[in-house]
Amino acid sequence: MTNTPIILGIESSCDDTAAAILQGNQVLSNIISTQKVHKQYGGVVPELASREHQKNIVPVVDIAIKEARIKKNDIDAIAFTKGPGLLGSLLVGTSFAKGFSLSKKIPMICVNHMKAHILAHFIKDNDKRIAPKFPFICLTVSGGHTQLVKVNSYYDMQIIGTTLDDAAGEAFDKCAKILGLSYPGGYIIDQYAKKGNNKSFQFSKPKVQGLDFSFSGFKTSVLYFINKQISLDKNFISKNIYDLCASIQYTIVEILLQKIEKSIKETGITTIAIAGGVSANSYLREQLSKLQDQKKYNIFIPKLEYCTDNAAMIAIAGLYKYKKEEFSLYNESASARLSF
Ligand code: KG4
Ligand code: ZN
Repeated sequence: MTNTPIILGIESSCDDTAAAILQGNQVLSNIISTQKVHKQYGGVVPELASREHQKNIVPVVDIAIKEARIKKNDIDAIAFTKGPGLLGSLLVGTSFAKGFSLSKKIPMICVNHMKAHILAHFIKDNDKRIAPKFPFICLTVSGGHTQLVKVNSYYDMQIIGTTLDDAAGEAFDKCAKILGLSYPGGYIIDQYAKKGNNKSFQFSKPKVQGLDFSFSGFKTSVLYFINKQISLDKNFISKNIYDLCASIQYTIVEILLQKIEKSIKETGITTIAIAGGVSANSYLREQLSKLQDQKKYNIFIPKLEYCTDNAAMIAIAGLYKYKKEEFSLYNESASARLSF
């Protein structure tokens, strides 16, 4: 056992085939191949995703090893996403990890994708970012999840709030679909919103108790509003696209920020981190930076490449399990609904 093992991370839970090499917590390479095939269907088609992973996984791993300037035999362990995610996609990464582990006689480590998003804060690359100190609250916002997590240590995390229906990323993507934008729409809304006025339109915000979230009422209010406006003017969306995107983004981010504030009040913890695809949102990042200045909270925002799905986060989560020798057996299986 070494303190700075070389770990190959594999991520294949949805539509990104990713491989990364870390030495200790230092990134040596981080390769992502995003599947384009789903765009024409307006969402991820599970069967196509799994076939694309099968095509991509070997080349993506080869590039990761080459960019890291190491040899296959230098790798001390392979970490892979066990779940949650699409079963067919997860199976590709799981099977690859088993084959690699067997052939190289190295340990295999299974990783929970949502915990890995949080542990991405501990990845070191060449910038000067520092990691949050325990305990901290992490808002984990992705295409499938929206959670507030109290992070006590690398190994001890507790969900203190979750969505009762849609995830924040899903809300972005569904609103983008209503506006006729392509999939995944979160990034496009973010870009268009920069040119719009976020007070132009008002959409309903949920009244959910405690630290839980809800986005389905908001999404329905967007849908009804747009349908009504289109019946009056069929060009309503194209005439107002920037203001619509800005107002939609504003409402989703407000919902998230209100719950962050509430979690600070309830726990007394003022160290806040964000993680997951939606944490790439520029307005959310900007508003959190303002909170840091105004209220002196300690805010931790990951680099963009570690917000959306990536394998460096799988490798770092693998590192902490490696340190405790928490290795998987060959009967370890993928789990679409892996719990936290
Ligand atoms: O974590 P992630 O890459 O994959 C999942 O585990 O789901 O998150 C993907 C989600 C998608 O819903 C996507 O629209 C959203 O993150 N997303 C964004 C932005 N970039 C990605 N949402 C808002 N603004 C962005 N800039
Ligand atoms: Zn994710």
